Amino acid sequence: MKNHIYIKNKIKSFNKKIKVSSDKSISIRSVLLASQALGTSNISNLLESEDVLNALNAIKKLGINYTKKKNTYIIQGYGLNGYDIRKKTTIDAGNSGTLARLILGLLVKSKKEIRLIGDKSLSKRDFSRVIKPLKLFGVNIKNKNKVLPIKILGTDFLRPITYEEKIGSAQVKSCIIFSALNTPGTSVIKSKKSRNHTELMLKFLGYPIKVISKKDYDIISIKGLRQFKGFNYKIPGDISSASFFIVLTLLSHKSKIVIENVNVNRSRLGIVSILNKMGAKIKLRNKNNYNGEQIADIHVKSIKNFNRIICPSKLNSTAIDEFLIIFLVAAKAKGISKFKDLGEMNKKESKRLDLAVKFLKLIGIKIKRNKDDIKIHGNPNLSLSKNIVMKNFLKDHRIFFLSCIAALTLGGNWKINDKDSINTSFPDFLKTLKILGAKIN
Ligand code: S3P
Repeated sequence: MKNHIYIKNKIKSFNKKIKVSSDKSISIRSVLLASQALGTSNISNLLESEDVLNALNAIKKLGINYTKKKNTYIIQGYGLNGYDIRKKTTIDAGNSGTLARLILGLLVKSKKEIRLIGDKSLSKRDFSRVIKPLKLFGVNIKNKNKVLPIKILGTDFLRPITYEEKIGSAQVKSCIIFSALNTPGTSVIKSKKSRNHTELMLKFLGYPIKVISKKDYDIISIKGLRQFKGFNYKIPGDISSASFFIVLTLLSHKSKIVIENVNVNRSRLGIVSILNKMGAKIKLRNKNNYNGEQIADIHVKSIKNFNRIICPSKLNSTAIDEFLIIFLVAAKAKGISKFKDLGEMNKKESKRLDLAVKFLKLIGIKIKRNKDDIKIHGNPNLSLSKNIVMKNFLKDHRIFFLSCIAALTLGGNWKINDKDSINTSFPDFLKTLKILGAKIN
């Protein structure tokens, strides 16, 4: 079956209310935590994308049963370390760094060796960042060259650790928090700021986790070996998926959008702060607190002129998956935008900083790159009429989304390959674009 699309027309003005796919980070965390809870959890609005389906497959391999009724996944947990692990179990995390890194934290006590594998992209990513703290807990890990496959064998002699997480990676932080759940005593993490869904979910579950928030880091203490009960959770929309529709609206002609029921946790709001600094007037309305998370409707209107941005690097982790689409706004802004210390972008599903440079050049934007810093020479009149073929962009879902938004707002004749990549995080992406009037073949 064909795996490419054509976009040959800019999108016409629209004024619509939409919903985007459910939050991927919270979907994966809720499946994994339900698998360690005591009793039944009911999770509704779970994101049904490949990354999350792989999480469901993974817990099934670990002896956890689930069923689906209407819009709700019902997961039966047997408490902490309640997995039933068979000999020669292999878990395939597919494309998902979050699943792979977080699940390792739940295997620290496993009595049998488990093999963790992933797809081509995941098999190139750095796992030394989680292997190091896991080994400090006392876990046995076998692997080569910092990458998957990994063999993990738990231990009955786990010891609590004190660890400094310096990258600002929520995946590393969450892997350590999960490991601490099964470890006696109190583990402590001094963690550079990153998304805090794991901490918020554990607090909502009544788990003894304490967070002291400082300006640039958090001190997180987790008491081990406390059971928590099955829970009900309704997953809100994903701001990372919403970001593509925010930018589509900003760059389109006389358009408006309301994106309903999105998680607007402050640790994820970089996209809104950065775009508002550039002149957008994105508003969060109808705000409410859901089990510790902030939910709101996002209101966006088209804007004619954008200012360049000197992006403070303290915002980096709050927009780490959104820089690709932020760069597209920088490409249309007046002046030279500057972004610093974005090396982590190159550690994602693809080397996104390298590919962003390649993409921006392809659409005719001048770039200066110095290692992890990038300067984008904006062109407010940027408009395309040439043929553009998006291939060799390594099947990265977010690069596919970016290309569609560029095609729909800049013009040109686009052929965009790797359509299947949308199934990683946002299977209804193209359907949602069509609701707004996009012509996609
Ligand atoms: C995620 C954390 C981020 C992000 C990823 C999801 C999570 O990765 O890029 O898409 O759910 O914890 P890092 O924590 O490695 O920065």
